[in-house]
Amino acid sequence: MDLFAFKTLLFLLSFIGCCAGTDILPTGPVDAILGRNVTLKTLLDKPEFSFLVWNFNGGTEAVNVVTVTKTALKVNPDYQGRVSVNRTNGYLTLASLKADDSGDYSLTLTTETADTTTGEIKLRVLEPVSGVVIKSSVPEAIEKKDTVVLTCSAKGSFLKFTWLNGTTPIVVDGNRLSVEGKELSSALTIRNVYRTDLVGPIYCRVANNLETENSAPFNLTVYYGPEAVTITPSKTPLVLKSGTNFSLTCSAVSSPPATFTWYHNNTIMEIGGPLLTLEKIKEHGLGDKEEPYMCKAENTKTKGTVASSAVSIRVMEGISGVTVTGPKAVLIADNSTANISCQAAAGVVEKRSWMKDGKPLAASARVVFSSDQSSVMINPVQKEDNGEYKCELSNHVSTAQNSYKMVVNYGPEAAMVKGEEKVEVNEEVTLTCSAVSVPPANFTWKFNGTATNVKGPTYVIPGAAYKNSGTYTCEANNVVTGKTTMHTHTLSVNAEGTLDGLSDGAIAGIVIAVLVALGAAIGLIIYCRQKVPCKNEDIDLRVESPY
Ligand SMILES: *[C@@H]1O[C@H](CO)[C@@H](O)[C@H](O)[C@H]1NC(C)=O
Ligand SMILES: *[C@@H]1O[C@H](CO)[C@@H](O)[C@H](O)[C@H]1NC(C)=O
Ligand SMILES: *[C@@H]1O[C@H](CO)[C@@H](O)[C@H](O)[C@H]1NC(C)=O
Ligand SMILES: *[C@@H]1O[C@H](CO)[C@@H](O)[C@H](O)[C@H]1NC(C)=O
Ligand SMILES: *[C@@H]1O[C@H](CO)[C@@H](O)[C@H](O)[C@H]1NC(C)=O
Ligand SMILES: *[C@@H]1O[C@H](CO)[C@@H](O)[C@H](O)[C@H]1NC(C)=O
Ligand SMILES: *[C@@H]1O[C@H](CO)[C@@H](O)[C@H](O)[C@H]1NC(C)=O
Ligand SMILES: *[C@@H]1O[C@H](CO)[C@@H](O)[C@H](O)[C@H]1NC(C)=O
Ligand SMILES: *[C@@H]1O[C@H](CO)[C@@H](O)[C@H](O)[C@H]1NC(C)=O
Ligand SMILES: *[C@@H]1O[C@H](CO)[C@@H](O)[C@H](O)[C@H]1NC(C)=O
Repeated sequence: MDLFAFKTLLFLLSFIGCCAGTDILPTGPVDAILGRNVTLKTLLDKPEFSFLVWNFNGGTEAVNVVTVTKTALKVNPDYQGRVSVNRTNGYLTLASLKADDSGDYSLTLTTETADTTTGEIKLRVLEPVSGVVIKSSVPEAIEKKDTVVLTCSAKGSFLKFTWLNGTTPIVVDGNRLSVEGKELSSALTIRNVYRTDLVGPIYCRVANNLETENSAPFNLTVYYGPEAVTITPSKTPLVLKSGTNFSLTCSAVSSPPATFTWYHNNTIMEIGGPLLTLEKIKEHGLGDKEEPYMCKAENTKTKGTVASSAVSIRVMEGISGVTVTGPKAVLIADNSTANISCQAAAGVVEKRSWMKDGKPLAASARVVFSSDQSSVMINPVQKEDNGEYKCELSNHVSTAQNSYKMVVNYGPEAAMVKGEEKVEVNEEVTLTCSAVSVPPANFTWKFNGTATNVKGPTYVIPGAAYKNSGTYTCEANNVVTGKTTMHTHTLSVNAEGTLDGLSDGAIAGIVIAVLVALGAAIGLIIYCRQKVPCKNEDIDLRVESPY
């Protein structure tokens, strides 16, 4: 086989292998942007040629673009200034691409021996991606009801559309979310749109093989609600003190924000706004009874109205002006009756309790409470009934109290005189009289049965004389009860020195006492020996003289 035949075979094989010229041109197509430059590359490396020809076929007929010989470069006048060829590798560069530069380019290489190699490649001149805009079928939408169709349109060639939710591509399910693509647009259909669907923001990304353009961020307001309509506080029932700064607050999840109306007993109250104050309840003449209140939230866009649960409220006045009234008359033990009553100037009293001197006041045969506990009758009063009576009134919202001090007059009880019974002449004598009494008793004194002009609890004789011997009677008198008690004391005034020494009887008494003490001490010592240790206190014996 000669060389020519071999080359021809290779040439033919190259046609069989694929398409023409895989040897000298890569597979296409080559994409390029309108108005820019493109270089059609070859697979050649310093080829030997006598002619290198680039032809172009736009669909009708082939035209020569450029022909390169060893020495010259001949450019078709239509391409003048737009074309260059690199002799080293045969690359063709076309500048300022026009739309009708799209088509098939062929490269033919002819050697000196007239061997010809041909290759072909397709060039696509793409219009740049531009004017990417999203338009919505509706300016606003209502959640779970409306269908929103977003249309993305753009200019360019061979466009591919992608929808982005923020930065992540939107995954369509063909059901609630679906996409329909056309050559220059894409429509994203969202059925029963959700509030979160279109806040992404949404972008439309349009691309060809060479370029990518994003739309401006797009979002659409989706109205929803009202939902979760709640009243706070919701604890029910609520008993509130009138005049306090209190209000019920209604809230709802809603877009646009809900408008609120208030209802009492399921009847509209003509109060708008999220707050229902105690003041407003009063203005409506309500609140005295425990009755239900609720609010309704309405969304002007979705036209939805939702009611809250009901909260029962009762407004109660606080208790004030508590007075405890006791008897005005003077009370005398065993003879008077006392009625103590407790009243409030304002407020509903729900509970009353009574205390006497800090302890609960107990009912008894003498102490009887009225059925509503508003008063207590003590009949008859006794000296133990003296003291402070506290009355405490309370209701759900307040507690108030006051007290009354009751004085029961009694006595005097048995009078008592303390003082010397035997004195020597010239010694001082002080007699003191006492008697338990309310009010304190007045004291008068009698000597030997005859009134003296001494008044008051003490009777003092600065220096006793023999004539002072006799009986001293103290009379205790209570002006209120009118009672008098008395006690008689005997004084003997003796000669000087007669009371100094000890009488025979006294001496005998002391001797006996000493003996008794001694006997006890011996006994204790024996006891301690048997039972050691013996504590000191056990031996601490005191011998007390009766004098
Ligand atoms: C032609 O191609 C060769 C090899 O790729 C390169 O080195 C040379 O710079 C190119 N010449 C021109 C004028 O671009
Ligand atoms: C395109 O080619 C023209 C002429 O060959 C040249 O002036 C211009 O700089 C080139 N532009 C680019 C982007 O390469
Ligand atoms: C966009 O993303 C949010 C959560 O990030 C999602 O709730 C919403 O449904 C998405 N929108 C679409 C159209 O897929
Ligand atoms: C889109 O979102 C921006 C900011 O997140 C907001 O200012 C704008 O009002 C929104 N537009 C629409 C139509 O919801
Ligand atoms: C009632 O209380 C609220 C907050 O608890 C306060 O903003 C408001 O000023 C108060 N009103 C009055 C009259 O004190
Ligand atoms: C509220 O309803 C209750 C029971 O349904 C009724 O007894 C009461 O009178 C009503 N109150 C007002 C102010 O209508
Ligand atoms: C005390 O109250 C009772 C019953 O209310 C009444 O019968 C009685 O007369 C009252 N006594 C006095 C001393 O007020
Ligand atoms: C008795 O004593 C009281 C004070 O305790 C006094 O006010 C009253 O005048 C006295 N009465 C007589 C009769 O002395
Ligand atoms: C008082 O009475 C006593 C005995 O009863 C009598 O001894 C004494 O002399 C009397 N004193 C006077 C001053 O009367
Ligand atoms: C005590 O009560 C009786 C009648 O029960 C009366 O006659 C007498 O005056 C009363 N005494 C006083 C001190 O009030």
